[in-house]
Amino acid sequence: MNKNPILITGAMSSELEILISKLEDSVFKLENSFEIYEGTIKSYPIVILKTKVGVINTAISLTMAIQKYKPIAIINGGTSGSHEYNIHKFDLIIGESVVNINSMKTGVRQLGRGMNPFDWKIQEFHTGAEDELIIYNADKDMVELSEDIQSKYQYGNVYTGRIGSGDVWNREVDRISWLNKNFKTSCEEMESVSIYKLANMFNIPVISFKVISNNEMTGEKFDIETAKACQEFTYEFIKTYINNMN
Ligand code: 5AD
Repeated sequence: MNKNPILITGAMSSELEILISKLEDSVFKLENSFEIYEGTIKSYPIVILKTKVGVINTAISLTMAIQKYKPIAIINGGTSGSHEYNIHKFDLIIGESVVNINSMKTGVRQLGRGMNPFDWKIQEFHTGAEDELIIYNADKDMVELSEDIQSKYQYGNVYTGRIGSGDVWNREVDRISWLNKNFKTSCEEMESVSIYKLANMFNIPVISFKVISNNEMTGEKFDIETAKACQEFTYEFIKTYINNMN
């Protein structure tokens, strides 16, 4: 590959199979147990990485892929749980920002005083600096470009919003509402915090598209079919992104 590729990531095969099928001249590689497909779309080099589920797998595999391929952009897609009553299954979130919903300090409680998750402060820990809430951002141009083509998404509504990310699947509606109210989350999933943190650190433009696959508030159960809709939009986005580069 002489041009630096666009790197596409997803956690599970079901979130990548359509994109893999769109790759031309694809070559499969296994790198330290992570599945990678190299190929092209519209003659531009593309690498697809299956990160596996969760922030640790994602951080490991994405670091490896960034060092190996030096991508010019990172695009992530996948399923997520809604944090709003009126954002439903098959709606799509353009991840303008990400907050780590699984990094927190609890309140102080003495023996026998129980525990209260509403006292837990969401923050990230630094050495030699004050702990603070960090918001990671998508690339502004990529957000704008996805908004420009959002009418191509036929399966539901499209919202630009914030992704809550961490190794947690929240099923308590009060907790979901608390996250939504206090941290402005539109949905939750388990990979974007690693992706945005790494991309921001390496100065690589990044965006995540998250389809709602479940909504605990309205009782909409997890539906993996939603992953296909997300990939169709991601594919449209990739083609537009490549066109706009020339
Ligand atoms: N909470 C957390 N992760 C979710 N995922 C889909 N829905 C949710 C949810 N409600 C995604 C994660 C992970 C896999 C378990 O599904 O990103 O990859």
